[in-house]
Amino acid sequence: MMSRTSNAHPLWSSRFAFILAATGSAVGLGNIWKFPYITGENGGGAFVLVYLACILLIGIPVLIAETLLGRRGRQSPVGSMQLLTEQEGTSSWWRLIGWNGVLASFLVLSFYAVIGGWSLVYVGHAATGEFTGADTDAIGALFGGLLSSPWTLLLWHSLFMLLVVFIVARGVRQGLEKAITWLMPLLFVLLLVLVGYAMTTGEFGRGFAFLFFPDFSSLTAEGVLVALGHAAFTLSIGIGVMMAYGSYLPEGVNIPKTALTIALLDVAVALLAGLAIFPVVFAEGLQAGEGPGLIFQTLPLAFGQMPGGGFFGTLFFILLAMAAVTSAISMLEPVVEWLEERKGISRLKGALLGGITIWFVGIGTVLSFNHWAEVYPLAFLPGFDERNLFGIFDFMVSNLMMPLGGLAIALFAGWALRRETLNQELGLEGISHSLFLFVLRFVTPVGVAWVFLYNLFG
Ligand code: PHE
Repeated sequence: MMSRTSNAHPLWSSRFAFILAATGSAVGLGNIWKFPYITGENGGGAFVLVYLACILLIGIPVLIAETLLGRRGRQSPVGSMQLLTEQEGTSSWWRLIGWNGVLASFLVLSFYAVIGGWSLVYVGHAATGEFTGADTDAIGALFGGLLSSPWTLLLWHSLFMLLVVFIVARGVRQGLEKAITWLMPLLFVLLLVLVGYAMTTGEFGRGFAFLFFPDFSSLTAEGVLVALGHAAFTLSIGIGVMMAYGSYLPEGVNIPKTALTIALLDVAVALLAGLAIFPVVFAEGLQAGEGPGLIFQTLPLAFGQMPGGGFFGTLFFILLAMAAVTSAISMLEPVVEWLEERKGISRLKGALLGGITIWFVGIGTVLSFNHWAEVYPLAFLPGFDERNLFGIFDFMVSNLMMPLGGLAIALFAGWALRRETLNQELGLEGISHSLFLFVLRFVTPVGVAWVFLYNLFG
């Protein structure tokens, strides 16, 4: 799938291969686990609307810009940004984009791998028929039991990390293409099956309305920030992942068209997940604002009641775990690419070194669901009084580092890059070119800045 160029930097074999890898990165726990639970916590429709607006006006332009910078730089995010600032004669401060990327992808993987572990645990639960006929209490107890046992969490977290390191060490490209070609369609089909089940619960209309009818009175300033952060999280932008993947992209591939395809697929998966989950939430009298456990408490109920639920449930959690793995490997990629390039160490060593350190930091997240659930290390800072370690990592990465990284990327590509460079890489013409430039230079930065100011003073 990859070939080497004369400067020894490998390339994706085609546009399609890149779409697969980038979609594999974008579609993951963010769509199926996080989107429904934060939508529930933030009151539904109005939040979804802001999230969609953020995808369109901020997410897609940044995705295009980030991929383009990666392709132009052809190195790790740190290396690419250094090269570009030199080539384009801009301030070297822009290199912070690269450092922010490597640091944030490191942090995000530390907690992502823990949740990835949960989906592995649930493969086992589904396969052994534990959902069959279980009621809300039993399903709640199953989840509660998992969270309260740090050793079990650690075991599955470690296995998940091992899988990720193994794949990255072998080279992300091998095998990934094949896996994703069947993984994505299957995931879609299974989500449709679940939506089909949701239609039989009698509360489909209410679930639908919750997702799509905006009630602005339930949206807070922080909700708007979470929606922005999630638009970045779900598209894997602002933290160098798409820059790293873009660095393997052949010349001549139309980046805007590609980015649009990826974003469409990504949003479709999230909305389907929402449609599958909220009707069950209402039918079972559960809380929409339940928090990170939402899908683990609703979907097992659905699987427990539908015909063939054992089979569908097992398959679903396998697919969820695999979708998480294809995202997780993309988070390790900037770190490993950087270690390879700067420290001159092999891919295997880079993956091991990065993986073990990230795994170690992840123990903080494991403990955030039990022993340290109510330990708030940064409580002295405003807005951090109820954030445990997991809460802090998630907030810092998703709500600060990713959107601010995205803002910097839009500013750099829109204003600092020479016009010819941008035009060459974009390959857009006429009105779509002007429109894109306008959005990238004005709408995207103003949008991100507005959300931040609104949060500070709103
Ligand atoms: N986009 C992934 C998801 O939605 C998460 C991710 C974030 C992947 C950042 C890479 C980088 O699950």
